[in-house]
Amino acid sequence: MSAKPVVLITGGAQRIGLHCAKRLVAEGFEVIITCRQPRAEWRQSPLSGIEVLVADFATLEGIQELIDTLNRRQLRLRALIHNASAWMDDERGAAAMQQMFMVHMQAPYLINLACRDWFVPGQPADIIHLSDYVAQRGSAKHLAYCATKAGLESLSLSFAARYAPAIKVNAIAPSLILFNDGDEEDYRQRALAKSALGIEPGPDVVYQAIRYLLNNPYVTGTCLELNGGRDLRR
Ligand SMILES: NC(=O)c1ccc[n+]([C@@H]2O[C@H](COP(=O)([O-])OP(=O)(O)OC[C@H]3O[C@@H](n4cnc5c(N)ncnc54)[C@H](OP(=O)(O)O)[C@@H]3O)[C@@H](O)[C@H]2O)c1
Repeated sequence: MSAKPVVLITGGAQRIGLHCAKRLVAEGFEVIITCRQPRAEWRQSPLSGIEVLVADFATLEGIQELIDTLNRRQLRLRALIHNASAWMDDERGAAAMQQMFMVHMQAPYLINLACRDWFVPGQPADIIHLSDYVAQRGSAKHLAYCATKAGLESLSLSFAARYAPAIKVNAIAPSLILFNDGDEEDYRQRALAKSALGIEPGPDVVYQAIRYLLNNPYVTGTCLELNGGRDLRR
């Protein structure tokens, strides 16, 4: 077993999660990511220093399977980062709400309840939830997404209370970090204009927020806003 501290990132196969995983490996952590489907390109160029576990949070069985796998390990967990997320329109109805509930609330809830023994007693320990700017403000267009991310932030507060002082528990609430490949130019311009800083910052700002939360021993039960001054433009 490696003596390196371990960081577990859910939904870490792409974009923000994968960027943070690579940055943490470069900092000397051992990183485990979960994904639903390993990427074909990893066969040609395996991810260096990153272990991949397949897990789908759409069902209770899928979540429990991951927990059972991790329970069988002798983990030396330093941090657990709930990054997995589903973004679905309300037009898709109850199934979409159910799916987002499973990913944003049910999986973090069950994994957090199970994780206490995965951390090293007496050592720094963090749980970080990736929420969203809209969770605390509401969204007329994405009610279910917004409600389930708000639920995730509420879990963050409750687990912070339950696990103090052994484990710090915080949330990060980003607004625009990274566009999707198919985003149209006019959508991009409108999104950029919403914040005072007006940039697409890229995933490293999330990594910096994670490092801040890991490094600071006096922060728990908070939600770190990462929004380029978006409220200044309201
Ligand atoms: N990107 C932004 O600008 C932005 C803005 C605000 C908040 N955030 C938050 O920041 C985090 C990272 O954002 P991102 O854009 O990098 O996310 P992303 O590209 O949408 O990736 C999220 C990951 O979640 C995983 N996932 C989805 N459904 C799942 C399920 N049923 N079971 C298990 N895993 C599932 C996916 O895994 P697979 O790929 O393996 O299917 C996916 O890789 C998210 O929590 C997001 O809500 C991002």
